Amino acid sequence: MSSNLGGIEIERAVHEHLNGHRGGIVWFTGLSGSGKTTLSQNVEKNLIDQGFKCVVIDGDHLRAGLNRDLGFSEADREENLRRAAEVAEMFLRVGFIVLLPLISPSSEVREKIRLRYQPKDYVEIYVKCSLTACERRDPKGLYHKARRGEIRNFTGIDAIYEVPTRSELTIDTEYKSIHVCVTELTGLIINKFAIQDV
Ligand code: ADX
Repeated sequence: MSSNLGGIEIERAVHEHLNGHRGGIVWFTGLSGSGKTTLSQNVEKNLIDQGFKCVVIDGDHLRAGLNRDLGFSEADREENLRRAAEVAEMFLRVGFIVLLPLISPSSEVREKIRLRYQPKDYVEIYVKCSLTACERRDPKGLYHKARRGEIRNFTGIDAIYEVPTRSELTIDTEYKSIHVCVTELTGLIINKFAIQDV
């Protein structure tokens, strides 16, 4: 893989050498309110503090811009994730660690995403938190609206979330502190994308 700068192709390995680590995709899946965004933002800060090139591509942000034409049907969710994966690949090409907090409710679609990448470049994190706890947190008030029928196709209420069986790591935000979860995740990412594997 290479990037193009003014007509000059620069190999991904060159970017990785300059960055001091490999690029990679860290795909967070979990219910709304499970803590995907909070975790990824904290991990991003940790990694940046340690000199890593890192970026978060968040579902809410994508849906406010690039993907604002998409809703929450199965087909639209798949397209939402496909576009997220395309953007992630651009960052991968320049050796970034890309953190993607996106509900990604369908096992089949998650597998399609996984197949886009080489195993050495990809890790799926299941952010585990029960529906009851997510609904109790309800940081955006969306579960309340979904229960009242004001929002349709809401994941966990009237749209399905298929619990992952193939994740490389499960992070339990219901029973572990954010600090413990972030430390565990940061360690896994640093190990996985260390330069000695280039
Ligand atoms: S995904 O299913 O396509 O992966 P994505 O992560 O982009 O979803 O967006 C989820 C965010 O959109 C939620 O965190 C929530 O803020 C908002 N949202 C609005 N409507 C819905 C809905 N019907 N189902 C899930 N999330 C919704």
